[in-house]
Amino acid sequence: MDRAKKRAGDRSRTTELLAALRLGRGHMRRSLQEALRSAIQSGELAAGSRLPASRVLAAEMAVSRGVVTDTYDQLASEGYLQVAARSAPIVAAVAQVIQPRPEPAQSRWPIDFVATTPEVALFPRHLWTRAMERALRDAPDATLDYADHRGSLALRQAVSGYLARVRGVRIDPARILIVQGFTQGLDLLCRVLRKRGARTVAMESPSLPPAWSTIRGAGLRLVGRGVDEDGLVVNALSSLHADAIVVTPAHQFPTGAVMAPDRRVALVEWAARNDAFVIEDDYDAEFRFDRQPVGALQGLDPARVIHLGTASKTLAPGIRLGWMSVPAALVEDLRREKGEADSGSPSIDQLALARLVADGDYERHVAKMRQLYRSRRDALQRALALSLPALPVRGAAAGMHILVWLPAGTDDVAISDRAAENGIRVGPLSPMYLTSPARSGLLLGYGRLPEEDIAPAVRSLARVLAAAPAL
Ligand SMILES: Cc1ncc(COP(=O)(O)O)c(C=O)c1O
Repeated sequence: MDRAKKRAGDRSRTTELLAALRLGRGHMRRSLQEALRSAIQSGELAAGSRLPASRVLAAEMAVSRGVVTDTYDQLASEGYLQVAARSAPIVAAVAQVIQPRPEPAQSRWPIDFVATTPEVALFPRHLWTRAMERALRDAPDATLDYADHRGSLALRQAVSGYLARVRGVRIDPARILIVQGFTQGLDLLCRVLRKRGARTVAMESPSLPPAWSTIRGAGLRLVGRGVDEDGLVVNALSSLHADAIVVTPAHQFPTGAVMAPDRRVALVEWAARNDAFVIEDDYDAEFRFDRQPVGALQGLDPARVIHLGTASKTLAPGIRLGWMSVPAALVEDLRREKGEADSGSPSIDQLALARLVADGDYERHVAKMRQLYRSRRDALQRALALSLPALPVRGAAAGMHILVWLPAGTDDVAISDRAAENGIRVGPLSPMYLTSPARSGLLLGYGRLPEEDIAPAVRSLARVLAAAPAL
């Protein structure tokens, strides 16, 4: 194409683009800038195209010339146009961005046995709204500033009292850090331990795979350690050669075992002997149904056990607040690490949670949810006894899920896939093993299943299992 023709084409394209635009009264400059900028970003105005001279464009657009020259100057200063004295601007080369496809809305499963999530539909919105309102109204201005990276003192105080009373944790507010749930607590801890020379962290096998990625992401080697009916297997622990171990003593995830007293003692002794740390994931200790929950391991040795708690199970995962109770020796490193990660957690949310805990609303909500989960657990046990009587169940004493063992050799991943094809979300056990052999099973969460839906849901799952060749 000869140059004159191309220039004419560019000009008419620009004019078309601009003509299509309704310039708002009083917003001409901004409208013109936006139209030109987005045409350049999208490639509609190609790099190298020459725009009309300001006088010409102003006449075509019926705007004052100043509107066009200001627009050209602004876009030149942003790098979208190249301007030279006494010549029309040229469109600069701008990287093209592929338009993202719209994200599909998160669909709900017709039958959802998710094992890691509470009933978010019963989040205490009214209590949270009231606590947020009061927090925002009463907070001094300093609350809105950058603050101590350990988190709000009010929340650290409320949490330390709660943990002492409910979980037997021995902690003072100065050694508590407020974090974005267990996940961030584990991440910060791994990073700090790595900087202090740690190389290897152990976890129970089976355990929560996303936590494996957190540990490895911090540059640490991950090793697995088996669990049985009494929780973590502790004989020959020294063969682990680990600098820390992550455990779920109150309710092993995902088998549901409660760590036996002699093992708790042995584990803490191992940590003291090997200058190692025990990282206690106390994720759902509040939901024990048959008796009072066993107290936190941290109470046995606050200098060796780091206790991590979270609002993800008691309130909702979206709240993204958790707390870690740490030995004095780690406080400063963790405070720095938290500051480097995100400069601190949202302050008003922290104050709202502090209020919920201090006023007793948090504990009342937990007690209410415990009742609800207990009824669901009972309904699930009854339904399993009726529809899948041959399958042994584990971990029913606490939490929000039951583990169902499948016969050895059953492909639980294939069964989970088959269930998904039938609209049932149910997690397979075997991918949660760090050690071999992996056992086969299914995790049946009842956090998301209203009581009346449980029996039909189990019947649907039983139909999927009945059609599986290995059963
Ligand atoms: C075993 C276990 N620990 C901790 C958590 C909570 O993680 P977070 O507090 O980061 O939401 C979960 C959530 O699924 C979990 O299953």
